Amino acid sequence: IKTIIEPFRIKSVEPIRWTTRAQREELLKAAHYNLFLLPADNVLIDLLTDSGTGAMSTNQWAAIMQGDESYAGSRSFDRFRNSIQDITGFKHVIPTHQGRAAERILFGVMCKKGDVVPNNTHFDTTRANVKFTGAEALDLVIAEGKQPASTHPFKGNMDVAALEALIQRVGRERVPLVMLTVTNNSGGGQPVSMQNAREVAAVCKQHNIPLYFDACRFAENAWFIKLREPGYENHTPKQIAQEMFALGDGCTMSAKKDGMANIGGFLCTNDDLLAQQEKDLLILTEGYPTYGGLAGRDLEAIAVGIQEALEEDYLRYRIASTAYLGKAIAAAGVPIVQPPGGHAIYIDARGFLPHIPSDQFPGVALGCELYLEGGVRSVEIGTLMFAKAAQMDLVRLAIPRRVYTQSHIDYLVEVILEVFAHRGQIRGLRLTYEAPFLRHFTARLEPI
Ligand code: F0G
Repeated sequence: IKTIIEPFRIKSVEPIRWTTRAQREELLKAAHYNLFLLPADNVLIDLLTDSGTGAMSTNQWAAIMQGDESYAGSRSFDRFRNSIQDITGFKHVIPTHQGRAAERILFGVMCKKGDVVPNNTHFDTTRANVKFTGAEALDLVIAEGKQPASTHPFKGNMDVAALEALIQRVGRERVPLVMLTVTNNSGGGQPVSMQNAREVAAVCKQHNIPLYFDACRFAENAWFIKLREPGYENHTPKQIAQEMFALGDGCTMSAKKDGMANIGGFLCTNDDLLAQQEKDLLILTEGYPTYGGLAGRDLEAIAVGIQEALEEDYLRYRIASTAYLGKAIAAAGVPIVQPPGGHAIYIDARGFLPHIPSDQFPGVALGCELYLEGGVRSVEIGTLMFAKAAQMDLVRLAIPRRVYTQSHIDYLVEVILEVFAHRGQIRGLRLTYEAPFLRHFTARLEPI
């Protein structure tokens, strides 16, 4: 049997709402052609993000009822810590309300002005939190990772020679830590190989620099290693994840991704002194170290969810479903970042709409048209988000976990191909309002 089915049956359903094209035209106008400004009720299929948008399992909901809301020493924290330690092996587990809170604390303790923090590619929040300490955030992804058409199996890999050269150039004292983002979200959701992680860890060890993982999508990364890296065919995703974490000194994690939860995150480290400093900061902004910014029930949902993310049936369906979407539209000529990533498909809007120059926001134009055509919400990662620094104009279709079925994906393919068929008629946009920073969230635009 070749058909891939969802490895679950549905026990609770949430209706999604149809709108007419005329309604969507009005709604889009009222939202100033910025999909962030749309009320979510008017979106049929929401691919804005895979973060915190997943469906929880019956076991997670059952665990939620077991939540211990004690301020200190809650047994939910014990379950949370034990589950995370089972996978990561790290000595200290510090809960936070989401990933960026873990980043803020980690960089706040480890970085200072003049430092440099290399990563394969920093996600926006890690970049911003590194910069906030006065340090510099540097991206050292391999050359293939920047070429949308390259089908290298591990486009998230770090350029090890560039890392070595950087340490030689600036000196070990100025590199407080090295980060590896698995999978590499800002680079198309592409995986990092075990071999690469091992080489990066060896360089770090040689210079006595700690290695941290930005572990948001560690389970998807483990599955890609199982599929693509010789020697791992017979390993379980959990064994692969354990092996990778064993190469590092700690991690930050947004449990809103492969934690399978709607909120939460954590920070791990093997360093006792650092853990103490981190907990002191945690108490200042997040809460007591046995709950971070979370309720006991959230800790329970994560303790169960992070194990479910490693189940083979789930990962097989997850990665196959994303790849199915990517392959179906690419086969019809739609330019996408290859190969399909774990959590999302990225359409190359400059290739899709060659008649719209970058300063007329081809990514925004395509996102708006996908909404008009089928009520689909995506996110622009391009000139609106990064202004002149944008190297590409991409439209990300991020797939929430366990939420949409194969027929939803088939519907998406149809919507995208319909828009592709009349792409010549799509017009660019101009800005009518922009905030001084992070302008994409609140920008207003109008068609030209
Ligand atoms: N690191 C990576 C690689 C991420 O993708 C994200 C969030 C974070 C850190 C921050 O985690 O949101 O819990 O504070 N990515 C979401 C996205 C927002 O849509 O890609 P957070």
